[in-house]
Amino acid sequence: MILSLKNVSKTFGGVKAVNKCIFEVEENKITSLIGPNGAGKTTVFNIISGLAEPDSGIIRLGSKNITGLAAHKIAKSGISRTFQLTKVFRNLSVRDNMLIAKKASDDEIKRILKSIYFDKPLDTIASELSYGQQRLLELARALLMPHSLLMLDEPTAGVNPKIRQELKTILRNLRKEGKTVFLIEHDMEFVMDISDTVIVLNEGKVLKVGKPKEIVKDRKVLEAYLGK
Ligand SMILES: Nc1ncnc2c1ncn2[C@@H]1O[C@H](COP(=O)(O)OP(=O)(O)OP(=O)(O)O)[C@@H](O)[C@H]1O
Ligand SMILES: [Mg+2]
Repeated sequence: MILSLKNVSKTFGGVKAVNKCIFEVEENKITSLIGPNGAGKTTVFNIISGLAEPDSGIIRLGSKNITGLAAHKIAKSGISRTFQLTKVFRNLSVRDNMLIAKKASDDEIKRILKSIYFDKPLDTIASELSYGQQRLLELARALLMPHSLLMLDEPTAGVNPKIRQELKTILRNLRKEGKTVFLIEHDMEFVMDISDTVIVLNEGKVLKVGKPKEIVKDRKVLEAYLGK
């Protein structure tokens, strides 16, 4: 187990966005966090990565308690992530967007871009990239950060089918390299195809954890998605 949440809660005003949430993410696996809009998925990611403070509960990365640590300290501990709304700097080149993660040679940057099938020159200004390419650039930046756990918030959203298929290969290759991938995703075909484990969140609580096969036929999960 690389990551664990124990009884993590977070309230915004009167809304219990995350409600005594408990789960574990296994090392060297692809784990997906799914659930209806507003289920609390992004809030869980923000709490893990230190962008939101939980009201209560404990988050562990390996044996280290990272609850309430500042985001940069959590990043240093080995968590790298991307965002639901891309955070690419549109006025900067591909190279300079990558250098925000850390110092790196052109060769190192090119090696990462190649591994995710990104073939634009390093001097390309990010605003000239397609939306899908901007998302890949953000993924590349997350990969350049030294990490043991990679967290992706809806990596396929707005991305064309070709890149979507490539993303599957990218994530499987990361797993082969020993990395742990934890992603939020609404594309069920994608989730069921690549995940080792699926965690279903509903109204801030874990509704079900299981292998894709077990999740697709679960009555509670279907009800949560379709409404009761
Ligand atoms: N900063 C905030 N201030 C107030 N309410 C918030 C804030 N962030 C999230 N919420 C609320 O918390 C709940 C969970 O939101 P969250 O963004 O975590 O959902 P989500 O599962 O990621 O949804 P989606 O699939 O639509 O991205 C929602 O009711 C949302 O309105
Ligand atoms: Mg979200």
